[in-house]
Amino acid sequence: MLNNSEWKPVRKAVFPVAGMGTRFLPATKVMPKEMLPLVDRPLIQHAMEEAKAAGIEEFIFVTGRQKEMLEEHFDYQPELQRTLEARGKTDLLEKVRESELSESQLFLTRQARPLGLGHAIWCARKLVGNEPFAVLLPDDVILSDTPCMKQMIHQYNQTGGNMLAVMDVPLEDTSKYGVLDVESDDGTIAKVKGMVEKPAPEDAPSTLSVIGRYILQPQIFDQLSKFETGAGGEIQLTDAIAKFIGNQPLNGFRYKGQRYDCGSREGFIEANIAFSLQDPVIGESVRNMVQKYAQQVQTKVA
Ligand code: UTP
Repeated sequence: MLNNSEWKPVRKAVFPVAGMGTRFLPATKVMPKEMLPLVDRPLIQHAMEEAKAAGIEEFIFVTGRQKEMLEEHFDYQPELQRTLEARGKTDLLEKVRESELSESQLFLTRQARPLGLGHAIWCARKLVGNEPFAVLLPDDVILSDTPCMKQMIHQYNQTGGNMLAVMDVPLEDTSKYGVLDVESDDGTIAKVKGMVEKPAPEDAPSTLSVIGRYILQPQIFDQLSKFETGAGGEIQLTDAIAKFIGNQPLNGFRYKGQRYDCGSREGFIEANIAFSLQDPVIGESVRNMVQKYAQQVQTKVA
């Protein structure tokens, strides 16, 4: 653990869920994108469970219009529980209980207009206060032995500062990510000297790209409150983080695991296949299904 008077533990996590999810229309016309089910639980619950496994105590949701279903999902449902109890469905009862957050764990704030991820995080400033915090984007889902945020907090406890989960992407995909300009790289931690949001491949300083997991210091809120817009006219979180390079350490952390972009249809479908193959109950039949379709595809090509 860092022996530094400025170091504080990460106890709070922010989940920005106020985006419009246009890539999933019309499914997301009424239902929040973060409620799309990955196997048997919504994306937002996967993110909540990852944070819980990392020791997070307070869960802060930045919601918006038509997102009420998200808070309902984490609420206590007495009727449902009584019915499951009466029917002896203890396994389902246990699953329902796992989806609950108590009054001392769940905190909500709203982003009235979706002005960008940086703005969504700024909306959580009062609930976060003056301590470091985690950010988890629920549409990035990571399949791993140790939950990604747990790996990050373990690393953060040695290094402090600001930390971004990163992965190498194909060069032609850099325009979808925040990309790091790296000062040094030991294979796990990349010290960052600059960052570019969504660069064209020819302008990308590397292929090391930021995914939706961050540990940030509270000073970020001072920068975000300037409401400076960046790529796409949005208030970008990565731009605000980049302003602290030189003042606070900024590290890219290569987590161990496979990340799926569930904000895109292909990524969401792939994640459902990957997660269901791991499922102890349906894994076997999904494996047979995948093999069946793989054979059909091969026969068509032949
Ligand atoms: P995305 O960049 O995927 O945007 O947001 P989106 O609006 O949800 O989806 P598309 O691109 O229209 O399909 C990443 C995460 O940040 C949140 C989203 O809810 C999502 O969890 N977000 C984004 C906000 O909370 N507010 C914003 O202004 C933008």
